[in-house]
Amino acid sequence: MGLTVGIDIGGTKIAGGVVDEKGNILSTARRESPATDSQAIESAVQDVVDELRGSYDIEGVGVGAAGFVDVKRATVLFAPNLAWRDEHLKRDLEDRLGLPVVIENDANAAAWGEFTFGAGADVDDFMLVTVGTGVGGGIVLNGELHRGAFGVAAEIGHIRMVPGGLICGCGNRGCWEQYASGSALVRETRELAAQGSLIAKSLLDRAGGNVEDITGPLITEAARDGDAFAAEQLEALGRWLGEGIATLTAVLDPAVVVIGGGVSEAGDLLLDPIRAHFRSNLTGRNYRPTLQIRQAVLGNRAGVIGAADLARRP
Ligand code: BGC
Ligand code: NA
Ligand code: ZN
Repeated sequence: MGLTVGIDIGGTKIAGGVVDEKGNILSTARRESPATDSQAIESAVQDVVDELRGSYDIEGVGVGAAGFVDVKRATVLFAPNLAWRDEHLKRDLEDRLGLPVVIENDANAAAWGEFTFGAGADVDDFMLVTVGTGVGGGIVLNGELHRGAFGVAAEIGHIRMVPGGLICGCGNRGCWEQYASGSALVRETRELAAQGSLIAKSLLDRAGGNVEDITGPLITEAARDGDAFAAEQLEALGRWLGEGIATLTAVLDPAVVVIGGGVSEAGDLLLDPIRAHFRSNLTGRNYRPTLQIRQAVLGNRAGVIGAADLARRP
């Protein structure tokens, strides 16, 4: 197969790219993501593909979607943070585009991208943790993407970390993503700022006095400039992530765990605490070989690249 298009459907935008078989992006397009309206999402995907296929001969389309994708890679069964319920995305998009379409979970697609062309390319057993609006996961076992019996393996954001804890978009309480996502980082920081806490004052000033303008990138930028509270917030996020990765390692024993998603751009400000808390929570830590925790190298392109490659393996 020659060129395929990869599409990444996120909470705020739909990103697409024409990708060759070596994982190079030849051209990109994007649209706003009308997150609550599934027909509008489909027509935005159609626009992105139509724009890209104008200049290239496209043989198939891979779509990464932030939800539970069935074992046939056709239907989004459920999405905790989007409006999809039993959404026949493959059929609908194939009708609209006249091209073969493969649907995959967004984090699985990104994991496949990092595994095939990025930070996991040198190992066979690998996990990606995406830290963004939610916490997503993708697991590669013995060189194969692990999808589970029903397609919904690796929903690691919904592991219960805190019995009776915060309510989650999935309806359960205490899910990991309520504590370890970019949304959790921003929520906690905004809460303190809104209470008038002096410890958050410099962040609030940086946001021009608007609590709503305190974002993940703003917290990261402040931490880089030496803001102690911002750095502590990233450290706290890293603690949740490191502890959870230690737990998952007891099950999966991967060689490498890659941290991706928007918040991973904080680099060592996030990675160092993840590594430290992973290490101090890992079972048998002094008596076993230890995996490596790496930052994603494909950044926000991992989903597009991975989805495009999966379109070659229907
Ligand atoms: C969803 C996953 C998704 C992740 C990242 C989670 O809330 O359950 O399906 O991969 O967010 O977008
Ligand atoms: Na996943
Ligand atoms: Zn949940």
